[in-house]
Parts: sequence; C-alpha cells; structure tokens
Amino acid sequence: MSTIQQAGTPVSAAATAPSFVQHSKLIAWVQQMVDILQPDAIHWCDGSKEEYDRLCDQLVTAGVFKRLNPVKRPDSFLALSDPSDVARVEDRTFICCEKKEDAGPTNNWKAPAEMRAETLPLFTGAMRGRTMYVVPFSMGPLGSPIAHIGIELSDSAYVAVNMRLMTRMGKDVYGVLGESGHFVPCVHTVGAPLAAGEKDKTSWPCNQTKYIIQYPETQEIWSYGSGYGGNALLGKKCFALRIASNMGREQGWLAEHMLILGVTNPKGRKYHVAAAFPSACGKTNFSMLVPPAGFDGWKVTTVGDDIAWIKPGPDGELRAINPEAGYFGVAPGTNMQTNPNCMLSLNKDTIFTNVALTDDGDVWWEGMEQDGGGLPAHLIDWQGKDWTPQIAKETGAKAAHPNSRFTIHASNNPAIDANANDPAGVPIDAFIFGGRRSNTVPLITEARTWTEGVYMAATMGSETTAAIAGAQGVVRRDPFAMIAFCGYNMSDYFQHWLNMGEKLATADLKQPKIYNSNWFRKGENGKFIWPGYGENMRVLKWIIDRLEGEAAGVDTPFGVTPSYADLNWDGLDFGADKFEQVTSFDTDLWTAELKLHQALFDTLSYHLPKELVDVKAKIEARLAA
Ligand code: OXD
Ligand code: MN
Repeated sequence: MSTIQQAGTPVSAAATAPSFVQHSKLIAWVQQMVDILQPDAIHWCDGSKEEYDRLCDQLVTAGVFKRLNPVKRPDSFLALSDPSDVARVEDRTFICCEKKEDAGPTNNWKAPAEMRAETLPLFTGAMRGRTMYVVPFSMGPLGSPIAHIGIELSDSAYVAVNMRLMTRMGKDVYGVLGESGHFVPCVHTVGAPLAAGEKDKTSWPCNQTKYIIQYPETQEIWSYGSGYGGNALLGKKCFALRIASNMGREQGWLAEHMLILGVTNPKGRKYHVAAAFPSACGKTNFSMLVPPAGFDGWKVTTVGDDIAWIKPGPDGELRAINPEAGYFGVAPGTNMQTNPNCMLSLNKDTIFTNVALTDDGDVWWEGMEQDGGGLPAHLIDWQGKDWTPQIAKETGAKAAHPNSRFTIHASNNPAIDANANDPAGVPIDAFIFGGRRSNTVPLITEARTWTEGVYMAATMGSETTAAIAGAQGVVRRDPFAMIAFCGYNMSDYFQHWLNMGEKLATADLKQPKIYNSNWFRKGENGKFIWPGYGENMRVLKWIIDRLEGEAAGVDTPFGVTPSYADLNWDGLDFGADKFEQVTSFDTDLWTAELKLHQALFDTLSYHLPKELVDVKAKIEARLAA
C-alpha cells in the first residue's frame, strides 16, 4: 500500500513513509525537497498494478487521459500534451559541473552554484496545490551488477504511471536499497503551482520556462516546466545517458544510446548487436526486426530499443543490459509493414501521447493508412481538433504529432529476447552506428580496427528529426548518436571508448566489431532508395556472416563494404544498379565530408584523442591515392 497524505496537514516525509522505506537519508532528502517544492500531499509509489489502475482512473477523471475503446485497445489511454510541450528541449538542457571544459562544447553549461541560485526560486513552491509522487525505480534488473537505482519526485501522475512501464518501479527497489544504498535523486515538476482551491485550467499543465538540469558531480537531476518524454521521465535520457555516461567514465563502463538485439543464425548460433542511431531514425524498428522471406532459420529478438549499459563482465568481455523496462517509441510511420511486432505490442496496456483519436475510440497516426484501411473519414487530432482528409489536404495538418509516442512495457513485445531480464546482461559481438544521410555515407561499412570504428562513430552526421524541438532535416554531427546525451566532454568520451578497446586488447579479449550504417540515401527523385525496415536483415546477415568469417567485403578509403554478391537478395527485387546507388563512395562528396569532420575536430580540439586525427590522415591519404 502506498501512503497518501491529504492536503491541509503539513507534509511530512517521515510521517508518511511506508514501512517498506527504511532509508533514513532518502526520507531526509524527500523532506528537504518537500520543504522546497511545497506539495499539498505526498504519495509513496509502491509500483503495484492496483496503484497503476487507480492513478490511470484519476488521470481519466482529471481529463488528462482518455480511456480508449476497451474492445479495440484494452487498458489503454490517450493523453494530449500542451502543443508547446511535445519534444525534448535540447537548448534548455544543461550539464552543470564545476569546470566548463568538463561539460565540453557540445553541452550547455553553467556552474552548479550559479544554476542552483538561478533555479531555486522556480523550484520553490512549484508543487503547491499538487501531490508529490515518490517514484522508486531500478535502471536494469533489480540487483543486477550492471543496474543502478533512482528515486524520482514528480508532481505528475502521468509521469508516475509511465515510469511503471518504462522502469522496474516499485517497493522492491527499497529492498535493494536497504537502509543506506546509493540512489540518484531526480526532481521533476511541471512548474505549474496552484493557489489554494484553484483547479487546473488545462489537462497538461506545464511552464513556458523549462530547465533540464544534470549535476554530474553530485549525480542529481532537476527538471522544470515540461511533462513530456525524456524531459520528465528522468530515468531515460537524464539518468540512463547523461548521468550514467559520467558514472561509466569514472567506473570503466559504457552508457550508450543503443538498442540491443539478439540474432540467431540458421546454425543456431546467437549473436548480440548493439546499435546507435539518432532519435527517430528507426531504432525501435531495427530492434524488433522481422526477417523477410528468404531468411529461413534466422531469428531476431529484442533486448532493448533505446539505451544500453555495457560493463565488463567477470571475464572482462562486454556485457550489456537494457536499463529500461519499456519502450517510449515514435508512433507515426509504425504499421504492420514497417514494424509488425511493434503494432502487436500496442494492442493493449498502452499509453499513447499526442496521436489522433478515431470516432470509435481507437488511435490513429500517419502511416496506419498503409495497413489497408486507407485514411479515416474523421478523427480528433493531437490538438483536440477535428481532422478529415480534406482538412489535411488543405492545411497540411497532421493527425498525430510527428513526435507522438506510445509507452509500453517490454513484455508486450512478442519478440522479446529470452535474456532481456538477465541480470548478467548479454555479451556484445558487434556495434552499429547509423546516421540519417541522404548521400555520402554508404549502406554499411565495417571498421578495420577498433580505432577506425571509434572514428566512424565520432564523426557520424545525421539529419535532425522531430524528436527534438527546432529545425528538422539539417545535417548535424551526432557523435555516437550521443550529441544530446553525453553528460561530459565529448573528446573525453571518445578517449573513454579508445581506452575501453585498449583494455579488451590488453586482456587479450575479443573487441566487438564496429560498423557504420546508413539506411537513408535518397535518389534524384528525393525518395529513399533502400527499402529499410525488415530488409535491413540483409545487412544484419552480412554482419553476422562477417563475424563468422564467412562473408567477403571490399576495401574502401573508409572501411570494408560488401559488394552486391555478398548480400542475400532472395525475395527482393533490388538490382546491382540500385545497390551501387546506396553503397557508392564518391570522392568529391567525401572530400567535402572530411572538411566537416575537421570542423567537428576543431570544435572538439580540447582533449581530442590524437588517434582520431591519425585515422583522418589515413583516410585522406587513401582518398588521394
Ligand atoms: C528517444 C529520443 O525518445 O532519442 O528515444 O528522443
Ligand atoms: Mn533515444
């Protein structure tokens, strides 16, 4: 049972803490935060299904959730956010460490004391009129040597229920913490206090002023003003990437923006691949890939869809867990052709945010028309307005916001890997880094060495997507798909990767092979050439065959790439001419590309590893030859 303190009495952490909380420092911290945030009530989440159902009912009553048609989408809900609160706010995200150089040029920085002074007035009284939810969560299987624990204080019940799907959330976490275990303190407020007796005028309270603050040296997260996604579900980007990347650097492990999949070949041998793509570039699709016809005996299973924590296991080899327990995926574009496993996962127990509502109480988003039903005649769009195909034609209005999302527990996924909850993690055999580039970067390239692979990852570029607020389709360098998530100096992070490779080599352990992919090359007609989705299996097979020592490849100035004959084309009409278009290596484009790599290196010159400069010189020499 959770304990709720009613409004009207002074809010006391100690008096309300349930018996399962035995951690005096934690209770003292909650009290300290209560004194600052001044909630009306406190609710210690126990993570039970009853609590989840109760909070969902409350959200329905409050108008935040709409319960979807129980026949079509049992136990599922739709939330519509404020139109201004629809994506991560990178320009309002801060790494606050003592020295600016330690945050590096890719992060917004402020000294901790300055940031605390600036934001304390905002946090003071920010939860007035609201309940503070105390959300205990484990990132990773409870008690796993790779896992870590956080406690999120939030004034959003939407956050509390999403956290139950996205993390191992509940009172068992206190069992692991005991009386003095370590946790990462996370504070979240929507920044919309209510005066006595005042009621919310909107179903999505938030504040135009937003701060997403990480203090890596004290491992704290403070988030103000947004209720959406990674801004508010603090286990995800703030903890599992920005804070954890700092922990990994100090403790000798990796916190990465990577999906993890298992792939079993017809010989019954299983490999594990971790892949980093920028936001909204098909990570969930790749992690749930269904091998197409012509791939009999191949099986792909999902360990994780967004984040990987990778630690050396007892024998020193790299073992990975998905620190999350659920998926917060982009809905538009998802359908039975692009990701059938995902569509099946969404049949029940799903929280949808910012998709459209059908007249029969179901959900809809752009892309679903490809499943045979065509465009619906009428919808309520993500802003609560009428939507018809005619309105869409005339105004361009999208039914679902391009960054609309679903939240599901990973157990919904029919392709979940049998070891997804193994506390020991899974051994990693290969890394893939893949940007979204209309040209230049080939479909797939294998790095010849660990260092060359780190170079490929470090110089990755990508066209921006709707997952972040701001301009879209602009190429920006997104090293390791971590531009928005690396919680310290990017050059030091490159060095950390080089050191990890070095450690494996010194211990005579196998270094995972590193690959660079690009599914997104476009033809002269502006359309994608590569069919992507399940067809990416053709590339994945080549990778696994390479690991088995069974596939050929051709040397390019930038790595090893397959020739047409090296991929399996069964069941797909994709000729050698098209393959040439997605794999060609254009010297002029690459000469221009290397200038952009140099511009990145100029920006990152502080602590930039010399090894990467050397790789670049080698590529230049090969290009010139
Ligand atoms: C995500 C993102 O939500 O990267 O995973 O934006
Ligand atoms: Mn992501």
